[in-house]
Amino acid sequence: MSGKKIITVFGATGAQGGGIISTFLNDPKLKNQWAVRGVTRDVSKDSSKKLAEQGVEVVAADINDKTSLVKALAGSYAAYGVTNYWEKADMKLEVQQGKNLADAAKEAGVQHYIWSSLYNVNKLSNGKLPHVYHFDSKAEVEDYVRELGIPATFFMPGFYMSNIPGGMFKPSPPDNAWTFGLPVAASSPIPIYDPRDTGKYIKAIVLNREALLGKRFLGATAYVTAQEIVDAFKALFPETGKTARFFQVPEEMFRGFMKSQGSPDYIVDEFYENMRLLEEFGYYGGEPLDESHKYVEDPLTTWEEYAAGAEPFAKLKKFVATEATRATEAASRLFEATFDLAGFREKAEPGRARLRALMQRRKRLRKEVEEFGGLLREKKLEREDEDRLLRFVQLEVVNTFSRTSEATATYLGRAMRCLIGSGFPAELRPLAAAPQSSLAATAGHADIITLLIELGAGKEIKDRNGWTPPYGAAVARCADVMKLLVKLGVDKDAKNNSGKTLLHWAAEAGRADIVRLFVELGVNKVAKDSSGKTPLYWVDLQEVRARNRGLQSLIKYIKAHLTGSPDRLVFSWVWRWAAEAGRADVVKLLE
Ligand SMILES: NC(=O)c1ccc[n+]([C@@H]2O[C@H](COP(=O)([O-])OP(=O)(O)OC[C@H]3O[C@@H](n4cnc5c(N)ncnc54)[C@H](OP(=O)(O)O)[C@@H]3O)[C@@H](O)[C@H]2O)c1
Repeated sequence: MSGKKIITVFGATGAQGGGIISTFLNDPKLKNQWAVRGVTRDVSKDSSKKLAEQGVEVVAADINDKTSLVKALAGSYAAYGVTNYWEKADMKLEVQQGKNLADAAKEAGVQHYIWSSLYNVNKLSNGKLPHVYHFDSKAEVEDYVRELGIPATFFMPGFYMSNIPGGMFKPSPPDNAWTFGLPVAASSPIPIYDPRDTGKYIKAIVLNREALLGKRFLGATAYVTAQEIVDAFKALFPETGKTARFFQVPEEMFRGFMKSQGSPDYIVDEFYENMRLLEEFGYYGGEPLDESHKYVEDPLTTWEEYAAGAEPFAKLKKFVATEATRATEAASRLFEATFDLAGFREKAEPGRARLRALMQRRKRLRKEVEEFGGLLREKKLEREDEDRLLRFVQLEVVNTFSRTSEATATYLGRAMRCLIGSGFPAELRPLAAAPQSSLAATAGHADIITLLIELGAGKEIKDRNGWTPPYGAAVARCADVMKLLVKLGVDKDAKNNSGKTLLHWAAEAGRADIVRLFVELGVNKVAKDSSGKTPLYWVDLQEVRARNRGLQSLIKYIKAHLTGSPDRLVFSWVWRWAAEAGRADVVKLLE
């Protein structure tokens, strides 16, 4: 062990400690720098022996006995302290154990103490949720560590994903459908955490010691809502998922169930309030996860990944992803990453570390997409796969462009170049790009249009109604984009499914500005649609429609205010119209 710094991990045989040990033993950045000491009360049990076989120095100590802790910590540079409230469910005892650990860390001269803490819910809720003891006790210990003045970071583990499969999410009456039941609304955000990821967070903490001393470090992959947890289950297990649901358990039912399981009243209160915390104040009081994530280098386990491997779900038939569906997922992640990156860059002062992390993530995803692209190119895709891929690309583009600024669009253009240009099947390119080009036009992104056409997007490609890309530009009043499209050779007189040109559309929509532009661009002014009508016909019809609308409101007005004394002069044109149109009812009304 010489030359290596020692990290002493309490709870070594448990979930959090176990996660730390496996990272410190295997991570290329850590394994040569750190030696791991693991603490247990029983060095002879199988789980302790297994740790010793892996190279952990396993030592015995009890967190109720401070002397044993000082001995266990001797020579440690860093230490991870955790208590297990649930063993005795005694708040006072947990506070004492936490203080023992802190005192021992001080006495042993530990340089970086990491305390597995949690928020004080009583304070966070202004006394509304006073019974979440296992949170409040850890927060009390955190205060004590701060008072002692030892160099420390406070790790705040999120909501264990392992609480969910088989426990909170299981087949339930009356129909035995898989039900995720919690006494909170389906939209409540849950910061999900896989304890096996603990090492990834602690790695970030020890590698960034100076920046993180005295700080809290949130340990969760993401906030997901209870409903999203169910939705992911449905996608993973489509057959069982058909009837899967979220159920907001009424308070009385929740309490009754816990009592029937033998929980004493104070634990029932504790659990109920712990869950209400999610909806009412937020598990972390609404704190975002970004500040911690910017230090984490390794990918965190998602709920989908966790659920796919969770033992209680093992017997359920999984969705089998084809290469095309996996490729679409990779493309989706790439779009998302590019979007995040662009959004972040647009901020006035982007943090360097976060920017680097985002760029690395995007690079990784680009590689992934390219690999899938290669796979897809080599294989003959099934028609169904092609359709799925195409539908996805369209949807993804609609989603991303709809929240895109001009600057972000440039980045998305690069993601598209990667997606369409570097691997996705050639025969899909013009197809996939088609709706994108009209969408890009809609959003007015001239550079995207140029790129798409460069990449081979079909200039004649049409949407469901047969409109070509300039339609999008016209709808969005983007004269520049219209001009660019025409310059790039897009047919300005192309007809839609009813044989209408864009001039027909502009005339019918009463869009004088666009009509003027089309005329400037030299479109065919007398093109005939499928029923032989020229654009002028639509202008006339527009006028009639406008008059019609005016008439309806006039009649309404007359009925309400002027019955018996209509102003003949004002209504003379209405008279004329009514006579011409043979509307005896209107003539009668005006008399
Ligand atoms: N479930 C959640 O969603 C959630 C969320 C956030 C935080 N937490 C907190 O997580 C904590 C539990 O952590 P975990 O899941 O890692 O625990 P765990 O898997 O249940 O394991 C408990 C560990 O604590 C050790 N331990 C217990 N009493 C000890 C003692 N007197 N002296 C020395 N070691 C002792 C055990 O070691 P030996 O048995 O080998 O001695 C074991 O390694 C709880 O306090 C809980 O409040 C839970």
